Amino acid sequence: LAEQNQPQILAGKSILITAGPTQEAIDPVRYLSNHSSGKMGYALAIAAQKLGATVTLVSGPTRLNPPAGCEFIGVKSAQQMYDAVMQQVDKHNVFIGCAAVADYRVDEVMSQKIKKDNDKLSLTFVKNPDILASVAALPKPPFTVGFAAETHDLSHYAQDKLKRKKLNMIAANDVSDTSIGFNSDHNALSIFWPGGQQRLAKNNKDMLAYQLLTLMNQHYDNA
Ligand code: CTP
Ligand code: CA
Repeated sequence: LAEQNQPQILAGKSILITAGPTQEAIDPVRYLSNHSSGKMGYALAIAAQKLGATVTLVSGPTRLNPPAGCEFIGVKSAQQMYDAVMQQVDKHNVFIGCAAVADYRVDEVMSQKIKKDNDKLSLTFVKNPDILASVAALPKPPFTVGFAAETHDLSHYAQDKLKRKKLNMIAANDVSDTSIGFNSDHNALSIFWPGGQQRLAKNNKDMLAYQLLTLMNQHYDNA
């Protein structure tokens, strides 16, 4: 895509984006995480800036370089991501939750390495705060866009999350198809908003980022 001459449709907008996985510590040498590469969130951060927006990117650990020009906040755990987002959110008029946030963390992080003394090991997990739902539930929420990773009944679960978390928009991707989504350079998205939907066909994540931001902007003006 051309580096220059992007129409500055997001000029004046300040966008807060979460990206990547989170890492939930188990003991000093181990953690629980997921296959998120961060590519979609970073593509959104880069595209949003090219379209004229000011961007803050809160990212879990990835192999990617922080995009030039944005304010970058690196975090590890879901709790750290929550804290960073809540500290930043008032300065932004759009929030895009693209991170694959770990739903659970261990209830007690061991201060010493767990030894393989037993044949079985059980860990107890507790739920992490839902960052996206917390942002949407603020007294004056930004325009809030979620993602939904689904392996089945995609439109049902995505529309349920849109409604339940009181989002303005949700982008659902089918993570059962390993040719797209997590780790891939490509994705395909089904976008839902209250009263409508649009399919963004399989494409590279850079192109999809522009398409999603353009759609977001159209709905922002109606919200
Ligand atoms: N999300 C979040 N904080 C969490 C969990 C999820 O902000 N603790 C956000 C993700 O960034 C994404 C959206 O919520 O934008 C949906 O994530 P997803 O995992 O698809 O849905 P969940 O609500 O976690 O439900 P489930 O995993 O049971 O499908
Ligand atoms: Ca989840």
